[in-house]
Amino acid sequence: MKFAFCKSLSKREPADGFIVPFWDGPVQGANCEALKLCLNDFHGQQGETTLCYNGDERIILLGLGKKEKASVEGLRKAYASAIKVAHKTKCKSLNLLFPECKQADEFFRGIVEGVLLTNYQFSYKLEKSGPLCEKLTFVGVEKTAMIDYYAILSKGVCFVRDLVNQNADQKAKILTDAAKNLHSKIKTTIFDKKKIESEKMGLLLAVGRGSSHDPFLIQSAYKGDPHSKEHIVLVGKGVTYDTGGYSLKPTDGMVGMKCDMGGAALALGVVKTAAELGLKVNVTAVVPVAENCMGPDSYKLGDVYTSYLGKTVEINNTDAEGRLILADALSYAAANLNPSCMIDFATLTGACVVALGEDVAGLFTDDESLSVDLLAASDSTDELLCQLPLHEAYLESHKSDIADLVNSGGREAGAIKAALFLKEFVGEVPWAHIDIAGPAYVSKPKNYNPTKATGYGLRLMIDFLESRSS
Ligand code: BES
Ligand code: MN
Ligand code: ZN
Repeated sequence: MKFAFCKSLSKREPADGFIVPFWDGPVQGANCEALKLCLNDFHGQQGETTLCYNGDERIILLGLGKKEKASVEGLRKAYASAIKVAHKTKCKSLNLLFPECKQADEFFRGIVEGVLLTNYQFSYKLEKSGPLCEKLTFVGVEKTAMIDYYAILSKGVCFVRDLVNQNADQKAKILTDAAKNLHSKIKTTIFDKKKIESEKMGLLLAVGRGSSHDPFLIQSAYKGDPHSKEHIVLVGKGVTYDTGGYSLKPTDGMVGMKCDMGGAALALGVVKTAAELGLKVNVTAVVPVAENCMGPDSYKLGDVYTSYLGKTVEINNTDAEGRLILADALSYAAANLNPSCMIDFATLTGACVVALGEDVAGLFTDDESLSVDLLAASDSTDELLCQLPLHEAYLESHKSDIADLVNSGGREAGAIKAALFLKEFVGEVPWAHIDIAGPAYVSKPKNYNPTKATGYGLRLMIDFLESRSS
């Protein structure tokens, strides 16, 4: 999307559409008869839209809600509805009258994110459902640097969405290519299967056995603060497709499982966006990638595998594969990357979706400062997080007769047990786990998020990195 600015309303250049915002309350000032008529039926409620015409120009009246209740999230939602009208009416260029307000920066954030997050399409249809908007001219305000910042954020979100929406069969290649081309300041190395074998990452190897694509491990490092010892490691679950393996999923449970590398996409997207914004932080994405398939070589129930850390795991459910590949990645990172903290993202459990639904991700951590900073980032980005307890007693259900752990502790409190399993592989490094199984990939469009991949977590994590930057 191209941005332009025009101070004066009367000097605006022609565009396909003109978004005119109104606060909830009596509307005045219409000097054209058609517009007057429209305004009679229009109240300015948040997200309310009315389409009318001024010659060739489509005027999209947009309600922003009550002025005293204005919020960034409210603006994102309102501008999402305006952009949906623009899509329906095939507007490629838009003028946007800037609403009358005090904190222009906050308003720019709501508007730019609302517009750009909604102006997204991923489709394999022969006939696409119409053009996206290509040019946006802000009318009545001057350029501000923050626009570029929010535009880079939104681009990062769409980068994550694109990775997750791709066909599962392409994902190994797509993740590799993406990781190699994140940014000129990001150094990426990829461990192939041989290297994973020599490093003895027995759990990652086990999960990858059933697939014709070998497992691999991506590391993408951005050093934005070379003089600092702070090093944030982001680990992302990269299961390119989760059939469940021999603990096969039923059809309904399998349909969405191309999303199971959502954590991987997020970790890579965050490091890329941090580099594009030039954040003063050192951050590395560590992404274990494997496909969980059924086949003659698949890992089997009852067998025991040895992790990178040395702990042994008896497999009692091949569908609890995410925690296995994350366990090896976490202990590898803790031992080799000298992290000051580690945060992992994973579409890890259906139980987390049952507990928190599609809007809210689960947060698990024993580290006070991580929980404070992550919850603050959640507040300021409106990407919802809810902390659940790492209740040690539940680790009981991960006891095995023949190994150090079993990989599944059963359905009850499944999200917590999965987190407790991960914790066994982290050691002393401050660590947080974010279960994004709900919000990463959703069943229907909502506000500025499309259906399927949402890119959840990118804005959250950039906000968190900002709070940790020097
Ligand atoms: N990838 C799934 C979790 C998932 C479920 C993600 C729904 C997105 C939406 C994960 O690998 C899985 O299968 N988890 C099992 C764990 C169980 C076997 C202990 C689950 O949640 O059922
Ligand atoms: Mn699974
Ligand atoms: Zn999975």
